[in-house]
Amino acid sequence: MSHSLTELAVEVLTTADGREKTARSHAAAKLWRDSRAAGTPLEIGSALPPDRPARPARPELLAPREMPKRRPGSEHGRIALIHAVAHIELNAVDLHWDAVARFASVPLPVGYFDDWVQAADEESKHFNLLCDRLEALGSHYGALPAHEGMWRAAEDTAGDLLARLAVVPMVLEARGLDVTPGT
Ligand SMILES: [Fe+2]
Repeated sequence: MSHSLTELAVEVLTTADGREKTARSHAAAKLWRDSRAAGTPLEIGSALPPDRPARPARPELLAPREMPKRRPGSEHGRIALIHAVAHIELNAVDLHWDAVARFASVPLPVGYFDDWVQAADEESKHFNLLCDRLEALGSHYGALPAHEGMWRAAEDTAGDLLARLAVVPMVLEARGLDVTPGT
């Protein structure tokens, strides 16, 4: 029996471990793409996403002002930067699958789902590349604390598709891009 797309999204969202979450994300994206290519798309379904996605016990999540300052240029500073970006990528995986499942009752063109599924698959790849790099540097995702505030925008826009579509790219991602030159 095949799962609906929203059931696959909820499976990703309720998986805590980052490597496992992103493996499920990739597998779900492949199922969706293959079903679309075969002309027999998975049903969208109506599985409800959790209010908050499952997360591993580590990293410890801290308020932004409690986050230790990064020291650019040092080996530890480099690890802290990659760790922070890995955390952002993992949040993006959850954000994108949340967008798939949370608004599935809104009449949407199938391209809406194609795009979020594709983006979620790419974020999953980014997370794994950054984890590989952390491990090559003798660290791992979870070794350092991470920012707790990243799900707030998702919660604040859980009832409004247009708010979600405006806030995630224009506030969350745009703010990220603002700091990119320095990074
Ligand atoms: Fe990414």
